[in-house]
Amino acid sequence: MRFARLSVYTRSLRFRLLAWNTFVVLLMVVVTLLAVREGLRLMLIREMDQLLEEDLLEIRLAVEQFYPNWDQIQEELNRKAIGHAHRELFVQVLDAQGQPLRSSVNTPDAASSAGTGVLGRTLVGGAFRVMSRPLSKPGLPPLTIRVGSTLRFVREDVANLSRMSIWVAIALLPLAGWGGYWLAGRATKPLAQIIRMAARLRPSQLDERLPIRRTGDELDQLSRTINGLLDRIADYLAQNREFIANAAHELRSPLAAIQSSVEVNLNAARTIGEYQELLGEIAEECSSLTGLVNQLLLLAESDAGPSQLIRQPVLFDRIVNKSLDMFHGAAEERGVELHAQRLDRLVVSGDPNRLWQVVNNLIDNALKFSRPGGNVSVELRYEPQRAAAVLRVSDAGVGIPPEDLPHVFERFFQGDRSRQRESPTRGNGLGLSICQSIVQAHGGTISVQSVPGKGTQFTVILAAQPAEDQGTLIPATETAAH
Ligand SMILES: Nc1ncnc2c1ncn2[C@@H]1O[C@H](COP(=O)(O)OP(=O)(O)O)[C@@H](O)[C@H]1O
Ligand SMILES: [Mg+2]
Repeated sequence: MRFARLSVYTRSLRFRLLAWNTFVVLLMVVVTLLAVREGLRLMLIREMDQLLEEDLLEIRLAVEQFYPNWDQIQEELNRKAIGHAHRELFVQVLDAQGQPLRSSVNTPDAASSAGTGVLGRTLVGGAFRVMSRPLSKPGLPPLTIRVGSTLRFVREDVANLSRMSIWVAIALLPLAGWGGYWLAGRATKPLAQIIRMAARLRPSQLDERLPIRRTGDELDQLSRTINGLLDRIADYLAQNREFIANAAHELRSPLAAIQSSVEVNLNAARTIGEYQELLGEIAEECSSLTGLVNQLLLLAESDAGPSQLIRQPVLFDRIVNKSLDMFHGAAEERGVELHAQRLDRLVVSGDPNRLWQVVNNLIDNALKFSRPGGNVSVELRYEPQRAAAVLRVSDAGVGIPPEDLPHVFERFFQGDRSRQRESPTRGNGLGLSICQSIVQAHGGTISVQSVPGKGTQFTVILAAQPAEDQGTLIPATETAAH
């Protein structure tokens, strides 16, 4: 249990920021420490070399002065070495082979066996810094002077500095960690707020919104995005609620009609003829109920989007033709001329039954809102530049008032019914929303243009190919049922 909580914590953004911050500080401290240490070491050694140079010069002068009085020279060497005992200085005079002729008293053993590598600076036994210089003066044999002093102090100083720095680092690291923790906390606090609010949200309770801190940073953007999403979800839910209320209302009317007819007729004995009339009425209401329920189902399926869609190559012009054939009788009955202006042969990928539904709904509306003697024209055109089928259904009917135009695709929206002529297909305001839902599920668009009193044109655009391009075709359904 405790382990689980720990693993949640270690995966948190805050912990990772903290760990990263601490790691960077630690790295910086280590790198700085190494650099300072090396700098200090070089500086101390340079200082030491300067002193050794001075020692060399001094001894050279003494040797030149006292040669060949070796006793005197030995005394000078000792005096020099003792005078600089705090540096553990030793001084030697070497012969041409690099063997020591005279050494100061404190010369370490390692220096005697240093061999012939006497020029320049070397370390003796790793613990001494040594410097040699040949001495060549007329009248003197070739001698070499060698001085050396301990590196112990350099090492001690460097070690002291390191130790001190490590203590400082140990003291500062928690501060850095705490600072990182605090900063990470501040940075992730809005996130925690977002998480808390998101956990509180319920579909029935979507009024809460995240506060915008106006910092313009990514967290503010995230809050804005989430708020926008919540707005859209709330809108969608409100629409859905309205839709359900409307649907219930529409279903209730035929049911109420059935119920009242039945109740009235049950009150007294009726003749067979009266019962037959009653059953006829009930059958009519039932068929209207079935129609509505079918439309609601269609809408629900189309709303599920492309995933629920049958996709097959469909000869769209044949679907349009079939629909035209179907409405011919109805058009004649109303005295409206229905004709196809142009039908390009083309193939659309989609569900033939639903596409047929779209064409039917558009032609049905065009006829319904036409005046006697009017005409309805249907055009299907292939547009090669955007590889699209453009279907236009135009009428010269009553038109749609501008204030209604933005609403015609809304569910259950019906314009002023007085403009509507008696129609065999009793509308319920779902036709165009079904069209829109189907077209959108096919990745297409539907739009409307209308001039009141002059007429209306609906345009559907779907991705398509000319029919000739297709090899084997599944022809547009012959079985498409209404
Ligand atoms: N061709 C048209 N001419 C005039 N108005 C139309 C036309 N098509 C649709 N409308 C308007 O849009 C509304 C919605 O249409 P629709 O969704 O098919 O519902 P319904 O046909 O059941 O009324 C109609 O009630 C009508 O006001
Ligand atoms: Mg309609």
